Amino acid sequence: MNKPSAPDLLSSDFLTQDFLTWTRTKQSHIESVLGLTLPPASLAPQTLHSAMRYSALDGGKRIRALLCYAASELCNTETQVADAAASAVELIHAYSLVHDDMPCMDDDDLRRGKPSCHKQFDDATALLVGDALQTLAFEVLSAPLLCKNANQQINMINILAKAAGSNGMAGGQAIDLSAVGVALTQHELETMHQLKTGALIQAAVLLGVHGSNEHIAAVSIYAKNIGLAFQVIDDILDVEADTHTLGKTAGKDANSNKPTYVTILGLANAKKHARQLYETAIDALAPFGDNAQRLRELASFITQRSF
Ligand code: IPE
Ligand code: IPE
Ligand code: MG
Ligand code: MG
Ligand code: MG
Repeated sequence: MNKPSAPDLLSSDFLTQDFLTWTRTKQSHIESVLGLTLPPASLAPQTLHSAMRYSALDGGKRIRALLCYAASELCNTETQVADAAASAVELIHAYSLVHDDMPCMDDDDLRRGKPSCHKQFDDATALLVGDALQTLAFEVLSAPLLCKNANQQINMINILAKAAGSNGMAGGQAIDLSAVGVALTQHELETMHQLKTGALIQAAVLLGVHGSNEHIAAVSIYAKNIGLAFQVIDDILDVEADTHTLGKTAGKDANSNKPTYVTILGLANAKKHARQLYETAIDALAPFGDNAQRLRELASFITQRSF
């Protein structure tokens, strides 16, 4: 079984040392922010708190937090706001994974190189872990006086709520479950992926620019395209990568009869599509010049990753 720790991006030889150093620094930073944010395992109810920490800490690429920090460089978002945004998005993401793995959804036993939450604990605990991680995300983002501008803070809460709800991640998951064995059109598949994965990734970027309407307009094309590209690559890796590298069960989509970019376009065209999404995302960053360098590097990582 894989060692449950943040995957080392160094294996990706197309990335610069400078970016890798930045990534490691941010990954370890978000790990400690989350460690302080999550209730201690010793606090009652201990099982729930242990399971929350088990699911949200010590694992995952932290792509959403990295996108948040990279976007925050476009407009000098204050550190405490960027930290709150990055941890809120990672908490929602961790909750979505816990529920996604449950027997009533994808029924996956392995996550981030260790037993899924419901395997390590039980179904009821996994359900509550998801609930509690979700509300903790909003507790973090609604902390009194987090932002100097209260309207901006409400805007951030609104962005995350929409991205996680029935017109975002939860809605996409509902479509995903009802699409088993169904031959979706490419447009229908895109809608499903945009919602189940794209919405939260998009939110990570928009929260990075602290909900500022001016910056949101400028980064939204990047955010939308890279969010969709992320799930296209997830579909490809489900076919091409192995369970050990992924830290989750490979070949699960085909076994579960899920429509994916690979089943609809074929491997080669799915890769081409990811490349087009990458290029559209990169083009949209042109007005930002050097300030968007981290966002460019993350786009490369997202579309060329092997895990
Ligand atoms: C996996 O996301 C679930 C999807 C939305 C495709 P990640 O690949 O970002 O998972 P972690 O956080 O690195 O484990
Ligand atoms: C998961 O999509 C999306 C969310 C968790 C919201 P997948 O079901 O493809 O994710 P993995 O492959 O299990 O990580
Ligand atoms: Mg799923
Ligand atoms: Mg799944
Ligand atoms: Mg998948």
